[in-house]
Amino acid sequence: MTGIHLHTAKDRNLFCLSDTYKEAKMQVLVDDLPNPYLNNLLAVRGLSIFLTLRDDKNHVNILFDSGPRLDVLQHNASALGLDAFVDYAFLSVWLSHHAGGFLQAYGKNVLKKVIAPQFPGRKLKKERDNTHIMTFEGWFNEQILLFKLAERGMVVVIGCAIYGIARLLKKLERYDKVHAIIGGFNLSSLDVLDGPLFMRWIRKKKVEVVIPLHSTAPKARKIILKKLKSDLDWTGVGLSVNL
Ligand SMILES: [Fe+2]
Repeated sequence: MTGIHLHTAKDRNLFCLSDTYKEAKMQVLVDDLPNPYLNNLLAVRGLSIFLTLRDDKNHVNILFDSGPRLDVLQHNASALGLDAFVDYAFLSVWLSHHAGGFLQAYGKNVLKKVIAPQFPGRKLKKERDNTHIMTFEGWFNEQILLFKLAERGMVVVIGCAIYGIARLLKKLERYDKVHAIIGGFNLSSLDVLDGPLFMRWIRKKKVEVVIPLHSTAPKARKIILKKLKSDLDWTGVGLSVNL
């Protein structure tokens, strides 16, 4: 059966990821917005991104979030012709539209397989702030995924930015070069605080690839892509980008 095979997750520890990769590809498996070119994909509120990172010898597959339902995730993965094993399953935040697919896949064993933040209301473990994971404390603890592409810089993948994008950008200041920022930015087109701040930050840091998804409102996505003169004219389910 085609789709993504979730049951073969490796060691949960992302510390064993390489420091730098040569290439990376992302495919959006779940997003709020439909694909204007492929009408066999299901668009639902939530996020799931399939990432393939390559160096000279190896590649690693990471499933970032799972969307709200396993059947939607698998339907879209199959419709996109994906037939791949997941090495690491990563959850950004314990909200059902990000975690639902994982929960349906693993049931009670979910924590043994998925690299997840602390449950809501629990204090974060400090050691989770490392090269590949950055954590944000709140009632809903959130974590973002980072990896480095050779000669380009850091790639940052954000699930929902539930407490606003500003606190994430502040923490990302530590990196000289951010190549790409991808995911849910929690921005509406009417946003008067984080919206202008976000665009200023992107320009100041000379971020080359910006892919707004999920918690970025449809109009806000269009504004971001247009203002940054992006090669993309849309973002949504089924989008595939070599980073
Ligand atoms: Fe979300």
